[in-house]
Amino acid sequence: MSNFPSASIRWAFNVREWIPTRDQLRLALQCVQKEEKERCYKFVFVEDCKSSVVGRLLMRKAASEALDIQYDKVVFARTESGKPYLIRKNGKDFYFNISHNGDYCVLASELNFNIGIDVMKMEYKGRSITLPEYFNLMRKQFSTYEWDFIMLPSLEREQLQRFYRLWCLKESYVKATGTGIAFDLKTLSFSCQTPLLKQNVITTDTKVYLKDKFQSEWKFEETLLDASHCVAVALELTQKNVQHAIPENRQMNFTFLTFEELVRHSKPFETVTESFWEDFKSKDKKC
Ligand SMILES: CC(C)(COP(=O)(O)OP(=O)(O)OC[C@H]1O[C@@H](n2cnc3c(N)ncnc32)[C@H](O)[C@@H]1OP(=O)(O)O)[C@@H](O)C(=O)NCCC(=O)NCCS
Repeated sequence: MSNFPSASIRWAFNVREWIPTRDQLRLALQCVQKEEKERCYKFVFVEDCKSSVVGRLLMRKAASEALDIQYDKVVFARTESGKPYLIRKNGKDFYFNISHNGDYCVLASELNFNIGIDVMKMEYKGRSITLPEYFNLMRKQFSTYEWDFIMLPSLEREQLQRFYRLWCLKESYVKATGTGIAFDLKTLSFSCQTPLLKQNVITTDTKVYLKDKFQSEWKFEETLLDASHCVAVALELTQKNVQHAIPENRQMNFTFLTFEELVRHSKPFETVTESFWEDFKSKDKKC
């Protein structure tokens, strides 16, 4: 069991519901590293700007609280494939990952275990092609076994739920390894023992096979944040970290943060442009 339970974090923030005031946005941007803040300015859509800022705030809060590092002294960098990591981890093996999709931005972190997270809104918004056409296009990303699992229910709505669940699982794995889109997703096949995910219940019995070989060192935690968002957390339990084994049915539920909680104990360290508010207000909204 970990000596630092506070580093096992699962947080969710509803980005859609957060309509920032000028002061909130200023504070948020003041707590984001220069290069990431400049990235936020450049987003065309207001939703992308908000998600990006919230992701950075989640990361900073988690690193600062879990490792007891002064808020403004936390420094992040990105790997070549874009995965954020922490520079100077206070001597600890701290892993974290974030994801944003639909209404939510989520973060998962652990000491000792490599981690990846993915959240998906389980809705099809395609306009140019029908859902069956879309399925046909995406089918090549899934194994035959997975596709049979997706297509088992007769209702399209239930097929979509299964599709996004498997998508989330694949992404969470790829995000833990940090390989990004370079990975051949079809070689990764998930077997879901529990057919349906539920809110407030963490499903931990899903198994993964890589090129038909069972990957016993990978554990997955899945749940629904609400009726339309599923989330998957991938944990890599290697030989190196085996002494920190996670209890089989550990229920790591998500905590939903308010903006006040997100910035509690924050310490602004960056400046914002004079026109930050006007620039933000002039961004487009996704329909
Ligand atoms: C970037 C990628 C890692 C995930 O992208 P995504 O699922 O669209 O986005 P998410 O919101 O879940 O995650 C984005 C966050 O993950 C982190 N991230 C970026 N690159 C990463 C990488 N290589 N590994 C892990 N995490 C990464 C970042 O924090 C990023 O947010 P930020 O840019 O605001 O800091 C990449 O795997 C990707 O584009 N995958 C799509 C592949 C695909 O076709 N999947 C179909 C599944 S069936």
